[in-house]
Amino acid sequence: MPVSIRKLTSRIGAVVEGVDLTETPDLPTVTALRDALNLHKAIVFDHVSLDNAGQERVARWFGELTTAHPNVPAADGTRNVLAVDSATSKANEWHTDVTFVVNPPQLTTLRSVVTTPYGGETLIANAAAAYLDLPEPLRVLADTLRVVHTNQYDYARPTSTTAQRLEYDRVFVSKPYEAGHPVVRVHPLTGERGLFIGGFAKRIVGLSSGDSADLLRILQSYVTRPENILRWTWSPNQLLIFDNRITQHYGVDNYDDHPRRLNRVTVAGEVPAGVDGRRSEQLVGDASHYSGLLEVAA
Ligand SMILES: [Fe+2]
Repeated sequence: MPVSIRKLTSRIGAVVEGVDLTETPDLPTVTALRDALNLHKAIVFDHVSLDNAGQERVARWFGELTTAHPNVPAADGTRNVLAVDSATSKANEWHTDVTFVVNPPQLTTLRSVVTTPYGGETLIANAAAAYLDLPEPLRVLADTLRVVHTNQYDYARPTSTTAQRLEYDRVFVSKPYEAGHPVVRVHPLTGERGLFIGGFAKRIVGLSSGDSADLLRILQSYVTRPENILRWTWSPNQLLIFDNRITQHYGVDNYDDHPRRLNRVTVAGEVPAGVDGRRSEQLVGDASHYSGLLEVAA
């Protein structure tokens, strides 16, 4: 059966059919999936029958896995699975995964384990489209900027929290990490430029905290435009893969107290490069226990 790719929106997202995720894939299949990721940024497989080991195996088609998280332990006796569980965190902030380390994961896989009777969608935004939407003077400015990302971000949320969520947050921040990245990242496979900011972006280098917050808010408003977003409604046994180099995502907290559980496996990435070729740097902490380094051509 040939691989079929069906677009979900103009700018982001596609459903993939005709791939048996329980088989060992041939090279053309992996190439077709990588091409689909490069083009659509987020791809979805429906009716998958995978367990944790199966999800890890499929993620490995794209490269070496990271461990679950720099600070948060892996789920269920695994090494590579992070539980994205409403009992511990709702992830309802725009972010790119683990951007507080020097080489964040190149891609993220999410598998639905427990889905909600309503709501609980995952939003994924195309940060390359956001960059292209910027008026030229802002694009030129963004090209020159660097930004510090940290895991020590503000956890204050408007809704009440639980002891379990407070504990998760405590572990999440227990060891500090900071990384300096270009605000505009060049994708190593496509050459596309994307805004590389999101919830862990703390301050733009060289600006006051007030100016930095204002500018980040303006840039972020282009990422979160509705046209740049895929709103994915989960059913059980689906696998979503998104390109973590050039997207942001958000778990919508609109499902009351229903339990929701996605299992996440991420693939190690390279050190990002900006428009001028300058690479990211780790400023605080050492996350080498979390992720190997993907080598890409300069
Ligand atoms: Fe995430």
